[in-house]
Amino acid sequence: MSTRLLFLLSIITFISPTISTTCTSNANTGFRASLRHINANCGLPKDEIISRAVQRSSKRVKTLFSTSKISTTSTNPVASTRILVQPNEGEYLMDLAIGTPPRPYSAMIDTGSDLIWTQCTPCVLCVDQPTPYFDPLASKTFFRHTCSSSFCQALDYPLCFSNICVYMYSYSDGANTAGVLANETFTFGISSNNVTVPNIAFGCGNLNEGSLFNGSGMVGLGRGPLSLVNQLGPSKFAYCLTYFFSPISSPLLFGSMANLNNTNVITGPVQSTPFIINTALPSLYYVSLIGITVGTALLPIPASAFALNLDGTGGVIIDSGTSISYLQMDAYNLVKQAFQTQVNLSMVSNDNFGLDICFPWPPPPFVTVKIPSITFHFDGANMTLPELNYMLYDGSTGLYCVGIGPSTDGSIIGNFQQQDMYVLYDLENGLLSFAPARCDQM
Ligand SMILES: *[C@@H]1O[C@H](CO)[C@@H](O)[C@H](O)[C@H]1NC(C)=O
Ligand SMILES: *[C@@H]1O[C@H](CO)[C@@H](O)[C@H](O)[C@H]1NC(C)=O
Ligand SMILES: *[C@@H]1O[C@H](CO)[C@@H](O)[C@H](O)[C@H]1NC(C)=O
Ligand SMILES: *[C@@H]1O[C@H](CO)[C@@H](O)[C@H](O)[C@H]1NC(C)=O
Ligand SMILES: *[C@@H]1O[C@H](CO)[C@@H](O)[C@H](O)[C@H]1NC(C)=O
Ligand SMILES: *[C@@H]1O[C@H](CO)[C@@H](O)[C@H](O)[C@H]1NC(C)=O
Repeated sequence: MSTRLLFLLSIITFISPTISTTCTSNANTGFRASLRHINANCGLPKDEIISRAVQRSSKRVKTLFSTSKISTTSTNPVASTRILVQPNEGEYLMDLAIGTPPRPYSAMIDTGSDLIWTQCTPCVLCVDQPTPYFDPLASKTFFRHTCSSSFCQALDYPLCFSNICVYMYSYSDGANTAGVLANETFTFGISSNNVTVPNIAFGCGNLNEGSLFNGSGMVGLGRGPLSLVNQLGPSKFAYCLTYFFSPISSPLLFGSMANLNNTNVITGPVQSTPFIINTALPSLYYVSLIGITVGTALLPIPASAFALNLDGTGGVIIDSGTSISYLQMDAYNLVKQAFQTQVNLSMVSNDNFGLDICFPWPPPPFVTVKIPSITFHFDGANMTLPELNYMLYDGSTGLYCVGIGPSTDGSIIGNFQQQDMYVLYDLENGLLSFAPARCDQM
């Protein structure tokens, strides 16, 4: 690590204020927040929203699985830590408030990482954000963590200066966000139905780089101890994503509010599959995908395609921050082949969307074309997708495309495939549950 960076990081501990009052403990919490898609309400045409989303996702798929490719014997401590997903590659913003009195802001949610962080004054380096930077001096409930705190130990790469815990989440070649690990009181929920939770560990970032895409930080919803879901009890959350182009926000539910028994918007059977853990990337939500059916054909996908390998490569995750899905190359090619065989039109690729499985649309007169269905077979659960959840129409090229791309490492079930589905991440019981639902009526 460069001397200059170490110097900047050590400065953080001098500029970070010391405040102390009494601590309270976290109660079991249940609340509802709402998610806004980053391109919602900004007047972009649908084609543009899709091509931007696919571009962001293809960058994300390259970085999400990156730890598994980094040698653990690397002498560079920065390079050997997990590379943070670029914040601008997330897809949904949530509203929350920080401090006492509460300062409202929006943050990108990320099921691919754990840390909750926002930019803080004084800034050594900050990027533009729509709300003022958080000022710890103006809050009565800010407490810095010492290096021995269990949350400090839970960081991928904790740094310690004068017994103050400094976090750093980095890209492969420099700091993305660095600052002091602290406790604060957070307020969650929709305006008057809010809940206030004291002592949430978060990163108070004094040194930040990269675009925040109209947010002012991130909320990690990964599996690790620092994630919001693990800092609240009971450890479960759910979302129900409205139609991709809908201006209606999507509910995000935590704790006791995240319950598939409690909702009357479910329109089909509830299915569950166990999470599996990848010790190389412990924050990601791995599931066991066994097969895929396209139309009438159960594809002859080799078991190796979705296997989570001993070195941490491969496997299949479910993610909220990737838009379309990505399938391991062998599986992708079989899906492509099945569409070629079952759709009576010539297949073309679409550079505008960056997708390969596309057909000229509408079909010529008197040619009836049936788009085959797609079912993901998980261990104990089948996810059959409605056409709206995997077909994307590009008005500018007149092409109708399957929203699935190829991956050279693991596979990702993206958020486009999860539209109008109640998706419950139950960490307490190690289960992912899902059911078709009318998310816009929740
Ligand atoms: C929380 O709700 C109360 C009313 O119950 C409201 O006065 C307050 O402004 C809300 N706080 C935030 C941060 O939304
Ligand atoms: C932060 O909050 C946790 C959880 O309530 C608590 O155990 C810890 O002592 C707090 N640390 C500080 C520095 O306030
Ligand atoms: C931020 O929001 C403004 C107003 O909604 C919008 O014009 C702008 O494009 C957004 N910027 C980004 C990077 O999303
Ligand atoms: C739903 O209810 C059933 C039976 O009452 C119970 O076994 C199950 O754990 C509940 N599921 C959730 C997610 O609360
Ligand atoms: C495929 O389309 C062609 C016309 O383009 C038609 O002659 C043929 O019968 C169709 N085949 C099937 C199986 O639908
Ligand atoms: C999933 O689909 C397969 C193939 O159609 C079927 O054999 C299996 O019983 C289904 N599993 C569940 C849990 O519905």
